[in-house]
Amino acid sequence: MGKTIIVTGGAGFIGANFVYLQLAEHPEDRIVCLDKLTYAGNLATLDEAMKNPNFRFVKADICDREAVDQLFAEEHPDIVVNFAAESHVDRSIENPGIFLQTNIIGTQVLMDACRKYGIERYHQVSTDEVYGDLPLDRPDLFFTEQTPLHTSSPYSSSKAAADLLVNAYNRTYGLPTTISRCSNNYGPYQFPEKLIPLMIANALADKPLPVYGEGLNVRDWLYVEDHCKAIDLIIRKGRVGEVYNIGGHNEMKNIDIVKIICEALDKPESLITHVTDRKGHDMRYAIDPTFIHNELGWLPETMFKDGIKKTIEWYLDNKAWWENIISGEYQNYFQKMYGERLAGAEEKA
Ligand code: NAD
Ligand code: TYD
Repeated sequence: MGKTIIVTGGAGFIGANFVYLQLAEHPEDRIVCLDKLTYAGNLATLDEAMKNPNFRFVKADICDREAVDQLFAEEHPDIVVNFAAESHVDRSIENPGIFLQTNIIGTQVLMDACRKYGIERYHQVSTDEVYGDLPLDRPDLFFTEQTPLHTSSPYSSSKAAADLLVNAYNRTYGLPTTISRCSNNYGPYQFPEKLIPLMIANALADKPLPVYGEGLNVRDWLYVEDHCKAIDLIIRKGRVGEVYNIGGHNEMKNIDIVKIICEALDKPESLITHVTDRKGHDMRYAIDPTFIHNELGWLPETMFKDGIKKTIEWYLDNKAWWENIISGEYQNYFQKMYGERLAGAEEKA
């Protein structure tokens, strides 16, 4: 008999990609998506999934004990995968409170329900940002699962707090947990506030491309499908109590990513506008994925040059999806986050 898997945050970027992977690869399983539909959640993303009889969508907040309890009572899930989170560093700098609420308290509420109803596995989707950053002049250093947690932003701090709580529930109550810490993802359905889709959307509109500081910060980019495949392996074959780092050794400077996007869209690099740096901006993230490779045989399948091409094509083919987003409340967000920065850059020029 198939399993019932609750996927929280499945109307967001990575969660939705994970829902589609599960429905395609495990047609015997039932997928129940629990999502609050915050600004980052988009039900239209799940349009195709809604047609599948093995899929159910429930709109609820992971912090809402009653709603979570009711869903567990109805579904008796075998596995819970928690993607639901406030995920954008810049927003966490403006308003940390909601990050603590969703990312920490929401995790607790979900794990309490797991304890009450009994589950095979609770999987926490975490991030490499819990390790803090690495210096640019030490390319020999990488994050391993043993690297101490050393966070910089309210976002990464809330994710690290949740990770510690997951380990506590494993050790104290014997909850069968796993944690994955992945590097930066890119691909279809990413909300256009994150670097790659924001630059694609702005470039297509011939708007300035706001690069924080010099753009020398390094991120380790992984195609979203490779992340989802790694989580699929961990929940089915991973060892309870373990942490798995996920990344594909694809480090790139922000400025180089933006230049690649300009070239692919045939837009001039003169659109690149250096703006005030992010507060507490992490310099470099770099994952050592040896453990997940040795334990579970996982390796990334999509090279960056292919993944970025597919991603840009997806945004070109699905303009309605993101134009709809950026035409609404997002305008206020963009003005608030970038208005002064861009005005400052113009004055300097
Ligand atoms: P996202 O912001 O695109 O989506 C988050 C989803 O969670 C949205 O659908 C939103 O509606 C939902 N949500 C938010 N608060 C909720 C709540 N209280 N209750 C129920 N649902 C709620 O995020 P993403 O980029 O898809 O990230 C998913 C997870 O992966 C996060 O936990 C994030 O920390 C982690 N992660 C992301 C990246 C990345 O590069 N994007 C890398 C590593 C790890
Ligand atoms: P982001 O996509 O927000 O992911 P994270 O902060 O989790 O790594 O940002 C990726 C990098 O791009 C980060 O170094 C900040 C930088 N950045 C810009 O330079 N300009 C922007 O407008 C954004 C959103 C990000």
